[in-house]
Amino acid sequence: MITFKDNICQINTLNTSYLFTITKYGDAMQLYYGAKIPNGEGNVLIQKRSLLLVNSLYMDKDVSYGIDDMQFEYSYAHRGDSRPCAMTLRNENGEVFDMVFDCYKIGENPPTKLTKSHGHSDSIKLVFKCLNSDIIVEHWYLVYEDSDVISRFVRVINNSNCELDIFKVMSMQLDMEYNGQKLITFNGAWGRERYKNCHEIAQCRIVCGSNTGMSSAECNPFFIVGEQTSSNTKGDCFAFNLVYSGSHEISVGRDSFDNLRIMNGINSDGFCYKLAKGCEFVSPESVITFGKDGYNSVSQNMHKFIENNIVRYKGTIPIMLNTWEAVYFDISYEKVSQIADKAKEMGFEALVIDDGWFGVRNDDTSSLGDWFENTAKFPNGLEQISKYIQNKDLKFGIWLEPEMISENSDLYRKNSHWAIKIDGIREIVGRNQMILDLTNVDVREYLINSISQIIEKYNVDYIKWDYNRRFSDIAGGRKSGQYLHEYIMSLYEILETLTTKYPNVIIEGCASGGGRFDLGMLCYSPIIWTSDNTNPHSRAHIQDGTSYGYPISVMINHISPSPSHQTARATLPQTVIDIASVGRMGSQLDITKCSEQECDIYSNAIKNYKNIRNIIHGCSFSRLSDGFVQNDFVWQAMDEQCNNGFITIFHKRFNTVSKSLKIKLTGLNADINYNVYDRNRNFEITAKGATLMNVGLVLPQNYQGNEKNSNSLMLIDDTALTLTIQAISK
Ligand code: DGJ
Repeated sequence: MITFKDNICQINTLNTSYLFTITKYGDAMQLYYGAKIPNGEGNVLIQKRSLLLVNSLYMDKDVSYGIDDMQFEYSYAHRGDSRPCAMTLRNENGEVFDMVFDCYKIGENPPTKLTKSHGHSDSIKLVFKCLNSDIIVEHWYLVYEDSDVISRFVRVINNSNCELDIFKVMSMQLDMEYNGQKLITFNGAWGRERYKNCHEIAQCRIVCGSNTGMSSAECNPFFIVGEQTSSNTKGDCFAFNLVYSGSHEISVGRDSFDNLRIMNGINSDGFCYKLAKGCEFVSPESVITFGKDGYNSVSQNMHKFIENNIVRYKGTIPIMLNTWEAVYFDISYEKVSQIADKAKEMGFEALVIDDGWFGVRNDDTSSLGDWFENTAKFPNGLEQISKYIQNKDLKFGIWLEPEMISENSDLYRKNSHWAIKIDGIREIVGRNQMILDLTNVDVREYLINSISQIIEKYNVDYIKWDYNRRFSDIAGGRKSGQYLHEYIMSLYEILETLTTKYPNVIIEGCASGGGRFDLGMLCYSPIIWTSDNTNPHSRAHIQDGTSYGYPISVMINHISPSPSHQTARATLPQTVIDIASVGRMGSQLDITKCSEQECDIYSNAIKNYKNIRNIIHGCSFSRLSDGFVQNDFVWQAMDEQCNNGFITIFHKRFNTVSKSLKIKLTGLNADINYNVYDRNRNFEITAKGATLMNVGLVLPQNYQGNEKNSNSLMLIDDTALTLTIQAISK
């Protein structure tokens, strides 16, 4: 709900309010963002400012309008604000653009592509006009009331008679007082995505992000700014994300007046977008939320927003068996059909043929772009295996890496100019491959046609859309930022076309694991491969870090072999299963080589998962410990009615001398009795919601979840256990 009264705009969501005003000099000034306040009180938030005692700049001889001390909604460079600004423009006449508020409009449809049909409840655009050039900048706010999310973006319209260079364009700026807040970002690398990192905010600027052309494993676009003492359950917190899959920037700084300035948007390092006269530029959407009950509260807002307003595919996600770790490139009709037989027996619902089925691909040195079956491996074509799989009532999935091209491929021999490459300099490759120039309309057409043909010819139900190298050789310097942005927009165009044409085909996002785990990809792929690292110890960290910004319903987690192919760490099968079940469970095991006993364990896991999977989507998910600091990760997921749920605990080290674990549950109905029990009902208690939340669930000492009694204790590191929570009566 948006009101604009007495020069104050108030945006209310279910539990939050966001207020700004327009100053007498035509700037939008931030007044408040936080827990909901009544309408009509905005005036008390306007600070009375006095003579500045410092050498700061002020507006129009008005010494009380100290520019460096203002909390602006959006700052333009070269207009007296010495902090990093949100937008830098330049044209042939110079670089000073005097932007002033002109008007606002409530309820207009937003011009962004990705927000279309995403169900925001209200919108407001503020129009700023340039006093010394025909340039308009619109500041947009979209309201997602139920999830307490507001999204912001800007549109630049160049009506002037010359080209305009956009050197920097943040999607959002949020200024607020510094009260000791800390910044939490989610960083890592391949196989170590989204580890939680806390930063003190000194009087300096922290800028992080990615410049690789992808949202990256190194720095996810999601971040939190929370009170100094904030934790999973306590403290005022703000969380941010970007609906974008390309190079992005997170910028958080504290100035000499103790203001915080928080911004996010397209990475500005090397960015320069040339906006021709008569053209416009729309920035990606920045998504922001506030919660007063710690990180869990902002995570839950983001989860709801993503499930309701980002993910478009609403069908069922099958339990899949993926062939990658089972057979790698050594794939064939025979192997896949044997896997399919066993997969059906064990209760899987889909079979995804990963890399190696096409061209002459026996390793990663060739064939990307040649999307036709390898007849040595599939002599009767892929139709035969697709039919074989579907006749078993399993969905048929296939791996593609559409954005890439191998030098050793028919496609490259025919269209080498489609690869992004600069002649005359030393070539840089990643995984022996180059990126296709998606900004070329011929390439886009080729990809849409060839993927459509694959879908139709093989009756494909599921595509794993991989992306395994980062950008390097693009016509260097400033143009590169524009190119990287255009590349992502072209990718979205391809995905938009394909998902509109084939709305029932599920796309799994993947980028060497979770290198493109972002809101842009989630618009088209309802699930993303969380990481190539499937070892439970690593996975517990990765999944926990990911859960700060993303719901478990979009994370694909596979049961894979022990010892792990990535870390060589051995883990009990039940632990692998428990961790994989916190999200979209699947497997990469070579089930044809599993013993009967192992197959029983995994079939049982699938059976159990089928009982809890309706909780995975739409659940209220909470982290009940900080596993990055403590010995245990503890997660609780409850269905919408708070009747059914589960707790999963991952215990890193087995300590010989340790206290019983006491877990305070959350989100239960205080007066209802709940039964909480483990898989074998070795442990079972019944207690009222109030007791479980206030006193906590006290587990037996040294309990690892599998022992029949305390005499059978073994010293095992890396164990997990899952407890079922069931409401039974009043
Ligand atoms: C990288 C992905 O992350 C893996 O899951 C697998 O699909 C390989 N690519 C195949 O080359």
